[in-house]
Amino acid sequence: MTAEAGSPRIWYHTIDLPDGTTTPGWFDTRAAPRYVSWPAALPGGRCIDVGTFDGFWAFEMERRGAAEVVAVDLDDPAALDWSYDQRQRGPEAVLEWGSQRGPGFAALAAKLNSKVERVNRSVYDLKPEVDGTFDVVFCGSLLLHLRDPVRALEAMRSVCGGELVLVEALDPLLDVIARRVPCARVAPGWDQWWRVNRVGFHKMAEVAGFEVLEAGPRFLVPYGPGAPRAMRFGRLDSLAALRFRGRGQLHSALRAKPRPPRPAAV
Ligand SMILES: C[S@@+](CC[C@H](N)C(=O)[O-])C[C@H]1O[C@@H](n2cnc3c(N)ncnc32)[C@H](O)[C@@H]1O
Repeated sequence: MTAEAGSPRIWYHTIDLPDGTTTPGWFDTRAAPRYVSWPAALPGGRCIDVGTFDGFWAFEMERRGAAEVVAVDLDDPAALDWSYDQRQRGPEAVLEWGSQRGPGFAALAAKLNSKVERVNRSVYDLKPEVDGTFDVVFCGSLLLHLRDPVRALEAMRSVCGGELVLVEALDPLLDVIARRVPCARVAPGWDQWWRVNRVGFHKMAEVAGFEVLEAGPRFLVPYGPGAPRAMRFGRLDSLAALRFRGRGQLHSALRAKPRPPRPAAV
């Protein structure tokens, strides 16, 4: 599928369409749902996909039988969490690349005849009084793009009436050299902030008030047919390529539920 009127110039997700075409995405998440432990409440449940981009995960939850799916993202590139140095140039670059959020989702929703409702809202602003609560809160590869990922997780907790599913990009180096120490690398670059190792990923969910019910394995999200060359040959991702014999970004998933506060240790 090429870009057409009303479509974005780039696709983030690689999605198979009913007409037999496939969007040439930057990433190919088509195999990733098999690494997710889906909550039992998903079929027939009310679900939210936070940071949806072209909507792959929202459409996947709809395909798996969700009764209602809300997909949240930001229309205004200036509202993303840019670092001090990127704040001037970043939003313009999003427009130049044609990677604004919204047009891809709208084009795909029409082609898939989807009923997913897209809402222009920041994760930080999710509130039960406005959004209600969800049986499944899903969030994929967003935490690395946020200045304050734990605050975002707390906002997701506030609308989580069932379970949280996170899929997150990991730091391939920290995941090897500090395998058992929960940690994150400050990784500024465009709209990126943090790269956690797998135990750091679990710890972030715990400190935001979740109990991890199931921690999934590491897996690679391969680059899609539309990924720029510079992205495919990043130095750190080459480490993951060696481990997994493929080009892509290292990820892991977890399933969690909100937990009551623990007494503070003295
Ligand atoms: C790396 S993409 C991940 C897309 C998709 N969730 C996935 O896992 O394949 C991150 C997405 O999060 C969105 N995003 C960034 N900051 C956000 C915020 N504060 N609130 C909601 N979405 C945000 C971006 O616009 C982008 O669509």
